[in-house]
Amino acid sequence: MLTTPRWWSVGQHPALTCGAGYRIDREGATMGLINAGRASEVGPGEIKAFTVAGRELAVANVDGELYAFDNWCTHESCTFSDEGELEDGKLVCTCHFGEFDPATGEVLGGPPWEPLGVYELAVEGDDLLIDPRIDDAAAS
Ligand code: FES
Repeated sequence: MLTTPRWWSVGQHPALTCGAGYRIDREGATMGLINAGRASEVGPGEIKAFTVAGRELAVANVDGELYAFDNWCTHESCTFSDEGELEDGKLVCTCHFGEFDPATGEVLGGPPWEPLGVYELAVEGDDLLIDPRIDDAAAS
């Protein structure tokens, strides 16, 4: 009789082989930090797009602190990597001047009413590590 494992560990199945920091739990859900690129790609005052586990995120450098959040504005979906600016620690969408807190995703002003999804981020050496699950703790 052929039996199929109920779950796979990293390295047992080619589709689940991943980079550093990527873990798979017993239910097969992905968890943990994924290497998204180099932290040095995001200079002070810059906002860059990164794709992490199929999700397009933006990373902003606010006075040397890096923050990860959805790259799409919750108002009319302009992208922060193209239309975003950092002003006095705030993330500004220049399409209609919506303002967000880059750390929490909270709306600070302008037409958007829905907060941004924000993501856990860590830097190891020059590795930019991002958890692609929305960080509910930061948003609350
Ligand atoms: S699309 Fe960002 S404020 Fe309108």
